[in-house]
Amino acid sequence: FNPPLPQNEPVLDYAPGSPERQALKEALQEARGKELDVPMYIGGEEVRTDTRHKLSPPHDHQHVLGYFHEGDASHVEQAINAALGAKAAWEDMAWEHRAAIFLRAADLLAGPYRAEVNAATMLGQSKNAFQAEIDSACEMIDFLRFNVAYMTQIYAEQPESGAGVWNRMEYRPLEGFTFALTPFNFTAIAGNLPTSMAMMGNTVVWKPAYTQIYAAQVLMRVFREAGLPDGVINLIYVDGPVAGDIIFNHPDFAGLHFTGSTGVFQQLWKTIGANIGKYRTYPRIVGETGGKDFVLAHKSAEPKALATALIRGAFEFQGQKCSAASRAYIPNNLWGDVKRYLLDDLKTIKMGGVEDFSNFVNAVIDERAFDKIAGYIEKVNESPVAQIIAGGKCDKSKGYFIEPTVVVTEDPMFTTMCEEIFGPVLTIYVYESEWFEEALQLVNDTSPYALTGAIFAQDRYAVELASQRLKNAAGNFYINDKPTGAVVGQQPFGGSRASGTNDKAGSMLNLLRWVSARAIKETF
Ligand code: ALA
Repeated sequence: FNPPLPQNEPVLDYAPGSPERQALKEALQEARGKELDVPMYIGGEEVRTDTRHKLSPPHDHQHVLGYFHEGDASHVEQAINAALGAKAAWEDMAWEHRAAIFLRAADLLAGPYRAEVNAATMLGQSKNAFQAEIDSACEMIDFLRFNVAYMTQIYAEQPESGAGVWNRMEYRPLEGFTFALTPFNFTAIAGNLPTSMAMMGNTVVWKPAYTQIYAAQVLMRVFREAGLPDGVINLIYVDGPVAGDIIFNHPDFAGLHFTGSTGVFQQLWKTIGANIGKYRTYPRIVGETGGKDFVLAHKSAEPKALATALIRGAFEFQGQKCSAASRAYIPNNLWGDVKRYLLDDLKTIKMGGVEDFSNFVNAVIDERAFDKIAGYIEKVNESPVAQIIAGGKCDKSKGYFIEPTVVVTEDPMFTTMCEEIFGPVLTIYVYESEWFEEALQLVNDTSPYALTGAIFAQDRYAVELASQRLKNAAGNFYINDKPTGAVVGQQPFGGSRASGTNDKAGSMLNLLRWVSARAIKETF
């Protein structure tokens, strides 16, 4: 017990001529050269159906990478039964054997599978090599290793005992099966939601977003090669309402681990609430949902660092991070400099497919996302109170490309200042630099979300004031840094209000949601 915390997996830089760059290029070529055939995994079996759907890169949507096999209601039933069937042996397995499987999976990802999982994330989700590396390699590996360390710390936590009395805590898993519903935007989150529950002795039905299936199945193969027993995690591709109808009506449903939209999460919570009398136990509900993440600058901020943070925070992975900077409040004394830096830097940014490593911006995930984001850009074009100062062009002829777009508005309540867009659109409100307190109020009051946010200031009083006034406005609060890129083991991640249950992914707080502890008292 009490092992030292692991180190974060080093991020490889993919410099020209580096072995990792060569390996990744080969993995991309290999993936492009074959036709993928992606089965579901239920009870250890690869399951194929007659309903096959195309897998295509978002930046090249006419190219067919291969096909995945879609399941129906019968596969949901099979997955639940497989999870329930595997439960007794899995929960009784000593924790160090469970831990060893996930540590081995981390090593496989760090070594032999690194290029393959990154290539899958690049092609399937249109993430560039550097963004894929910090996600499907490093963050996924860190989740596995750090969670194992947190798990052992949880099991080590025991109550006091006295003369003639021995008190113990047994950190048992939940009774029943659990459900992981995972998003497209991070392969690491997709892998973390089922594995964090499984690690604590639960068995899982895992339904990834259809737009993340390619990398999800690579992870599943890694978990299996690492020794994950049959039925512990069951990966299915089934229409959401079809899966939900069966899972949320099942008496053994014991927990939901979700990352996705606020609207869907609220709907699922309502369904679970309406069915509450049907369950053997109160299901645990953990969700990480939307965001409208802010950057607030004080008049003492350093303009160059601020501009860089805005570009990286708003446009990396096309703004499709729940943490992405999407509204900024800039004082008018800095605006001239910040605007110049923004426009100069944006001119150097290249957009295109992931195969060219010099492209910073790639495509957004699918046509629905493209149309939604383009719709917001259209609203700006039609508005008398907002204007686009950079980007704004959208083209879906080859891939779903949207230029990094900077909007300036004179109305702090303007639509793109308040609503989640989930795309490469940053809206800026320039405030009178002496009105910092009013700006704080706007940040706090004009969005229902509270995921991430950043204050830029050299003046320590301003930092302290922002920290106090915005204490409920962001679960992850950054001082003089962009609001994205939380690192496992360093900044546990999650927010409150409409952004989720704030059970911090990659932390002991999260793992504790997946146990149902038994306290034992024995007298002698
Ligand atoms: N954990 C991811 C980030 O911080 C979402 O950007």
